[in-house]
Amino acid sequence: MTRYDVEEATAYRVAREISLEGLSSWRAAVAPYFAPGRVVLDLGAGTGLFVRAFGAWFPEVSVVAVEPSADMRRASGLGMLAGDAGAIPLPDASVDVVWMSTVVHHVRDLPAAGVEVRRVLRPGGVVVLRSLFRERHHGIGVFRFFPEAVRALSGFPTVGEVADGMGFVVDRLEAVAQVTALSLADKASTLRQEADTLLRSLSAAEFEAGRERLLAAAEVESGPVVDHLDLLVLRTVGAV
Ligand SMILES: C[S@@+](CC[C@H](N)C(=O)[O-])C[C@H]1O[C@@H](n2cnc3c(N)ncnc32)[C@H](O)[C@@H]1O
Repeated sequence: MTRYDVEEATAYRVAREISLEGLSSWRAAVAPYFAPGRVVLDLGAGTGLFVRAFGAWFPEVSVVAVEPSADMRRASGLGMLAGDAGAIPLPDASVDVVWMSTVVHHVRDLPAAGVEVRRVLRPGGVVVLRSLFRERHHGIGVFRFFPEAVRALSGFPTVGEVADGMGFVVDRLEAVAQVTALSLADKASTLRQEADTLLRSLSAAEFEAGRERLLAAAEVESGPVVDHLDLLVLRTVGAV
């Protein structure tokens, strides 16, 4: 499991948190699973980006957040439970949706996570993931400036590895656009190597060269920065 300390948790909030407007395509993409009255577990909730987003978008949904890092829990400023995918501190059959945003590549024991997730899900419940997958990297804008970062994807599971490993079946898979910054200049100003799994894999020289390319492009290009991550919805085997 990756550990996030205080500095990383703070860098994470600066570098990784996107505005709620920037995430509006995600709101539309997940809306079918967030009907009023549903209970959603945000597993690996980090600094609470989606706890806040779901609270604003779907006020009639209850969100419970579980996060293993004490520093992330503290940085979130929200009430979160300590736990992780292998030990979820919730009763059996207590949630309708397990939301995992950019978490599954941290989970070392997918079968154990599958057992825990199935235990807490109610019948007919779904796992909704927002992630990168090893075999799907075409919409990731950061590779334009930091081509070597594609190496880091080797540490990510494929869609099949996640579904089979957790013991679920794929119900839906699609790339969802998000505005990650209002401009390249904005992106450059919040760039933090230590906060991004993809950038962390770069040497200092590779990171600096990429930053220079990004700054040069920011001089001549305006307009929002659009990236894609995948939405993967998993259902239990046999569910319709
Ligand atoms: C990249 S952050 C994503 C945070 C948040 N979900 C978001 O989208 O902003 C990954 C988070 O997963 C947590 N994490 C790492 N290993 C985990 C595990 N085995 N189970 C649950 N969460 C885990 C980390 O502590 C970290 O907060």
